[in-house]
Amino acid sequence: ELGDYDHFMQKEIFEQPTSLKNGMRGRFSDDASTAVFGGLNLSPQELRQVDRILFLACGTAWHSCLVAEYLIERFARIPVEVEYASEFRYRNSPLDKNTLVIAISQSGETIDTLGALREAKRKGYRTLAINNSVGSTIARESDGGIYQHAGPEIGVASTKAFTSQIMICAMLALYLGRLRDLSYGDGIEIVKALQKVPEQVEEILKQDAKIAEIAKKYAKYEDCLFLGRQLMFPIALEGALKLKEISYIHAEGYPAAEMKHGPIALICEECPSVFLAASGEIFQKSLANVQEVKARKGKVIFVASEECDIPEGLADDTIIVPECHEIVQPILMCIPIQLFSYYVALERGCDVDKPRNLAKSVTVE
Ligand code: F6R
Repeated sequence: ELGDYDHFMQKEIFEQPTSLKNGMRGRFSDDASTAVFGGLNLSPQELRQVDRILFLACGTAWHSCLVAEYLIERFARIPVEVEYASEFRYRNSPLDKNTLVIAISQSGETIDTLGALREAKRKGYRTLAINNSVGSTIARESDGGIYQHAGPEIGVASTKAFTSQIMICAMLALYLGRLRDLSYGDGIEIVKALQKVPEQVEEILKQDAKIAEIAKKYAKYEDCLFLGRQLMFPIALEGALKLKEISYIHAEGYPAAEMKHGPIALICEECPSVFLAASGEIFQKSLANVQEVKARKGKVIFVASEECDIPEGLADDTIIVPECHEIVQPILMCIPIQLFSYYVALERGCDVDKPRNLAKSVTVE
């Protein structure tokens, strides 16, 4: 089953051009200006009534929800909230009657996500699921949903399922945006950007050997920070989760500007930072945050989009990601951190496919 690969995690990282293509197949309108979904069971008229969306999930899927929050608020202008499923199910949150509840779960069997979905349904909310397992409990119990079609994911650390969830969320942001203020021209541009993603991911994967070399240099440290702002913040959280779960290095993700409110105390020669720098207006501001790290002798690995002009002396190592539309930045920026974590864990002799204490599907509370 592994073919030419050493591990399922590696295989699944390299399957992403295909899994992303499969998630898009047949899901754009004939005029390529919006997305279309077959299973929402909600008419455009009903969707226009939605004035708030609540996303529920656990772990990596929760990070997809955070990306969805940025994308849907940005492109569809619908207020979005994100909550850990395990918290929501016992919190008895007051929700507005026009709230749509969306659960994201790769397996469709995570007990906390299922419990949260059931609680939302009991209260009479309309529910959707973004899910990778046809016929799973969460898929069956939600009122409608979107299958990821990413193919089975065996490695415990989620990789292709995560990027596929973000892809679906980007398409959902496009669809909801086009029901509201997003223009025909903007829609066309986004569809083009999404369709380009598989080949751009392919380009990034070609840097595999280079990323492996970089990872080797950092495998000896016991702490690592992942920093990003705006859309890169959830990717920073995901980077930290990936690294900690498979390499057992203590890692944390932060919005870069929060550093000065506490975490900067950790910075020293032994605590490197992975800095996720996407091009855009926030990039220049982020540089000040990196300078603070450098000033405290922290090593910095930049994962940066092509157009980011990184000042001399700021980066100890740099991984460049192709320039792209803002809506797909989170997908592209995620690929190098998956490979980085994978190679750091290998260097440390860890079992990447079966990390200690973890299970693929968490069916206990
Ligand atoms: C981390 C990881 C977990 C899952 C979480 C939810 O790499 O895979 O954090 O994301 O257990 O699982 P699903 O998506 O199946 O509900």
